[in-house]
Amino acid sequence: MFRRTIAPGIEIKLLEPGDAEAVFAAAGRDRAYLREWLPWVDRTQSAEDVRQFIEEVVSPQWTDNRGPQCGIWVDGSLAGSVGCHAIDWTNRACSLGYWIESRRQGQGIVTRSVAGMLNYLFEEMLLHRVVIQCAVGNHRSCAIPERLGFTKEGVLRQAGHVGDRWVDLATWSILEDEWPPVAQLRT
Ligand SMILES: CC(C)(COP(=O)(O)OP(=O)(O)OC[C@H]1O[C@@H](n2cnc3c(N)ncnc32)[C@H](O)[C@@H]1OP(=O)(O)O)[C@@H](O)C(=O)NCCC(=O)NCCS
Repeated sequence: MFRRTIAPGIEIKLLEPGDAEAVFAAAGRDRAYLREWLPWVDRTQSAEDVRQFIEEVVSPQWTDNRGPQCGIWVDGSLAGSVGCHAIDWTNRACSLGYWIESRRQGQGIVTRSVAGMLNYLFEEMLLHRVVIQCAVGNHRSCAIPERLGFTKEGVLRQAGHVGDRWVDLATWSILEDEWPPVAQLRT
């Protein structure tokens, strides 16, 4: 079971089927805010949909050694998620995704959770490259790789479909010999 303490009161923990209700409740409280950038929100209509995703994607991905998808827990409550899309072992690479409840924004919870994930991916899993893709208009999301020392590689035109619109995706990456950046000292 993957579990890391990020800071006092903040923990990331592998999602399990028993977390489905908590994920659905947190996402449900923030549906309008999340659906602006996350295509899965409109497809997720019940806790059962979340449970199915955990059972069919998250759990087998972890069992197959292709990386954890975690809940972010703040003071014992599920507040968001941070996770790897399945690791590509041929190239020792993966990409990351994340979200946090609107009321928990602006506290560095996601930046620190992503940093915790990068520590694991580079130091324990010995990955070579990690990518974050975010819509160019999603300034809060793009600020996370920028804050953590990623390099912006370019923009993929209309590479994401969210709701009823196409969005351009900025691709950010960081390599094993670039982590941790000297500037990344705040915890
Ligand atoms: C994208 C998203 C995760 C960003 O959340 P966030 O709260 O801005 O990110 P963080 O939790 O890292 O907080 C960053 C802020 O905390 C501050 N902060 C405080 N303590 C900090 C610390 N110890 N370390 C880093 N930052 C800290 C930062 O300076 C920054 O401040 P600012 O908001 O004034 O710029 C959030 O807006 C979200 O979930 N959006 C909807 C879903 C989404 O878009 N997901 C991403 C799809 S690609």
